[in-house]
Amino acid sequence: MLDLGFKYKELIKILQQEITEAPDISLILGSGLGDFAKSVNVKRTISTKELPGYPPSTITGHEGKIHFAEYAGKKILIFQGRIHFYEGYHISECTLPVFISYKLNCKKIFITNAAGGINPEFSPGDLMLAVSFNGMFIKKELTQLIGLATEKAKDNLSNFTSKELNDIIKKAAAEENIDLKEGVYWYTKGPSYETPAEIRMMGRFGGDAVGMSSAHEAVFASSLGLATSSVSLITNMAAGISPKKLSHKEVTETANLSKDKFERLVKRIISLI
Ligand code: HPA
Repeated sequence: MLDLGFKYKELIKILQQEITEAPDISLILGSGLGDFAKSVNVKRTISTKELPGYPPSTITGHEGKIHFAEYAGKKILIFQGRIHFYEGYHISECTLPVFISYKLNCKKIFITNAAGGINPEFSPGDLMLAVSFNGMFIKKELTQLIGLATEKAKDNLSNFTSKELNDIIKKAAAEENIDLKEGVYWYTKGPSYETPAEIRMMGRFGGDAVGMSSAHEAVFASSLGLATSSVSLITNMAAGISPKKLSHKEVTETANLSKDKFERLVKRIISLI
């Protein structure tokens, strides 16, 4: 099993010196949702380039910044720029924001992402609360990361995703008049968007949305004892569900159009925690 405490010792030490108060919640921002940081009171921004061993992000729309911010009297740790498997990184690198949150004594994590809609009832621009994940395609890597789960880690995973945090998210959506869908997020490693045949299979096996992030972050966070929840922005219909061709441009364009709704939801969640 990997010793992340050893691997990221220096980086964690720097962050522990910079961020001395435990954040109330950690927020991982998905594709095109990075602007959220601009809408809260940022106290300190650290470029991940300044952190020894932090993997550089290689995608447009993923900036590589860690913000320590405040909103509604709550302390928030924000990760702007995520690290994906399809960029060639190891699972220990992809889950680094989770490990940092844990090391900074954060007890809750809210994971966001852009995803393709498999459920035909969804439309681009919808928000979906992940009631569960399908991480079948990443089991081997998760085992490398978590090892043989201890009894405590297994118990932690029995409240995954977090019922308490999910309830807050649903309440926040209701208060903001946001129609929050619910469904299963199906993880794929990428590197490309799926084929229509793959999407047909995922749909038949209970997948409602598909994306290339979040599942491993969420499982790892939960195994470490963080209350973990996730919301997806449906940026496009998955391959074969609609006749429209998929593109990263569509993903970022829809994210842009839904920015305000997303911002309202996240702010309300933060005020309710
Ligand atoms: N598939 C995988 N990942 C995605 C998609 C998709 O359709 N849309 C946004 N991220």
